[in-house]
Amino acid sequence: MEKKIALITGGATGIGAACCKSLSDAGFKVGIHFNSSAAKAEALAATLKDAFIIQGDVSTIEGIDAVYEYIKKDQNGQIDVLVNNAGVAMDNPIFTASLDDFQKTIDVNMRGTWYMIKRIARFMIRKKAGRIINISSVIGSVPNATQSVYGMTKAAIDNLTKVAALELAQYNILVNSIAPGFIETDMTGKIPEDFQKEILKKIPLGRMGKPDEIGEVVKFLATSGTYITGSIIHVNGGMYG
Ligand SMILES: NC(=O)c1ccc[n+]([C@@H]2O[C@H](COP(=O)([O-])OP(=O)(O)OC[C@H]3O[C@@H](n4cnc5c(N)ncnc54)[C@H](OP(=O)(O)O)[C@@H]3O)[C@@H](O)[C@H]2O)c1
Repeated sequence: MEKKIALITGGATGIGAACCKSLSDAGFKVGIHFNSSAAKAEALAATLKDAFIIQGDVSTIEGIDAVYEYIKKDQNGQIDVLVNNAGVAMDNPIFTASLDDFQKTIDVNMRGTWYMIKRIARFMIRKKAGRIINISSVIGSVPNATQSVYGMTKAAIDNLTKVAALELAQYNILVNSIAPGFIETDMTGKIPEDFQKEILKKIPLGRMGKPDEIGEVVKFLATSGTYITGSIIHVNGGMYG
């Protein structure tokens, strides 16, 4: 039997890297997708049992088409699990945010996730099996001042999850979102220290999460959870407001 393949976008860093490790531990051949973090992708691949790396800018149609073509030719058109993790944060009040930043955030988080599903689901439809896991965010359901665009894109991803689950159920493809709360990665490392203290006050468990705590839920959705589709799984230390 062919080994199952999991493709993780933005897999070289933070939450994506934790997902690569947990899915490798679960026995998958892991596709570490990256955009700018080539060295990190190579280093991570060297630590995993069976992995390949693939570059592509998900904010462009060509970048995603290149990933599709690579999988088609070099991986025999096989993807069993897709984790749409690549994303950018935009922290700026509406009145000072630039249209360029707006567009970039939409292109990576929203269109990138939608178009990646559009292309990669084709491989799963052929097999009549697959799992798609979209990494959204607590900010998609809890409003956060300065994150209007980020929040819009993450709410959109959760809606996309539900629609894709409806459309793909007939092909035995399960689609779910994981909505992380604040997780210790480069993304949250950029938050000023005084603001980080304010965030901690809002988290009932009193700490930020670890990337591995998202990785373990990704592993569950990739290998178990056979009756879960169209769901938003919140992994946020109890932060709902
Ligand atoms: N950390 C948190 O508290 C938190 C909370 C909720 C949700 N999330 C979500 O979790 C996901 C991972 O974030 P993280 O915290 O692990 O931060 P991170 O380390 O900054 O990861 C972001 C990843 O997205 C990739 N990426 C960004 N722009 C891209 C593009 N144009 N094309 C392809 N890949 C691109 C990056 O790839 P390269 O480095 O190769 O460019 C990077 O691996 C994001 O979707 C984020 O919104 C994070």
